[in-house]
Amino acid sequence: MQVPFVNFGPVVSEVKSACHDVLNEFLEHGHFVLGQMTTEFEHSYAAFCGTKYCVGVSNGLDALCLSLKAIGIGQGDEVIVPSNTYIATILAIIHANAKPVLCEPDALTYNIDPQKIEPLITAKTKAIMPVHLYGQACEMESIMRIAIEYNLAVIEDNAQAQGATYDGKHCGSFGIINATSFYPTKNIGAFGEAGAITTDHEEIYKKAKIIRNYGSEKRYHNELAGHNWRIDELQAGFLRVKLSYLAQWQNQRLHIASEYHRRLKEIGDIQLPKIAKKASHVYHLFVIQTTKRDALKVFLEEHGIQTLIHYPIPPHLQKAFIGYDFHNFHYPIAEKLAKQMLSLPLYPGMTDDQISYVCDIVKRYYHG
Ligand SMILES: Cc1ncc(COP(=O)(O)O)c(C=O)c1O
Repeated sequence: MQVPFVNFGPVVSEVKSACHDVLNEFLEHGHFVLGQMTTEFEHSYAAFCGTKYCVGVSNGLDALCLSLKAIGIGQGDEVIVPSNTYIATILAIIHANAKPVLCEPDALTYNIDPQKIEPLITAKTKAIMPVHLYGQACEMESIMRIAIEYNLAVIEDNAQAQGATYDGKHCGSFGIINATSFYPTKNIGAFGEAGAITTDHEEIYKKAKIIRNYGSEKRYHNELAGHNWRIDELQAGFLRVKLSYLAQWQNQRLHIASEYHRRLKEIGDIQLPKIAKKASHVYHLFVIQTTKRDALKVFLEEHGIQTLIHYPIPPHLQKAFIGYDFHNFHYPIAEKLAKQMLSLPLYPGMTDDQISYVCDIVKRYYHG
């Protein structure tokens, strides 16, 4: 049996006909940039997250950059960010000319450890950027408490956890402004590139909208030195369709994850993902830890099962960051995770036979 890491086929066949309608409408109305499809998607996505506003943008990295710019984070400012995130979160801080201050995660939930945030706060700290990694909500109660106490902004990186909640409240609705990505593999993925910011603050929303469009509200009148970070109109149309399927796809993700939890319990030295109290997990990725990671990966591959590593090199050790002070620091938890993490296949449309097969082969690796 072959089990790919991701297979877009089942999702595509479900939405194909509705997406053809979107394409036809798009071609007919002829409003190719920031039209009705963008506006409608922005309203739907804001409502989904429980925020007042959403601004669709070109991708997740631009959404992070826009978030920092819209609240005025720049030169000399420090931003606390997890040491085990995808590189985009850190790049956004660097592109804003601010300084990333890396905070270690909890070794079992993989999310930023709130207890390690306070010692990193200095007079220059302006914001905390929690990343809801792999689909699990961060411990937002503690993070928000620290932010309020030290007067810091919170900017969520919600690229991986659309639909996850903390204490019943949606990820993407805690921070002053929050970013997400609709990269095709995400829980709500475009058929191309897209991203968004969400916020409850009217002023920040207005500013973000202007920055996204060359710093201009009125054509050829530029109030700010902005960017072209506009969302693609057609992707916004597709995303609106896909958003309406999200609940059903999440259920499938949860089913696969619960099977993995049930069948891989106490197998070898496998550490299964741990869910923090009050947090929910939408299983963008199902990530296990094992000291035998590399050998297990090869064994699974030999049996037709594709896995990935998120992420093999922690951000601070990336070549891109030679010369930055954090490149020389040690982040032992992030470094250990990079050596031991393995993401198992998980996608809407994965069959029960495929789930069983993955579990059987993993068991066979440990128990023969
Ligand atoms: C945590 C996180 N932040 C940001 C991004 C950036 O999103 P994009 O690839 O759409 O720029 C990603 C995407 O992979 C991500 O996983």
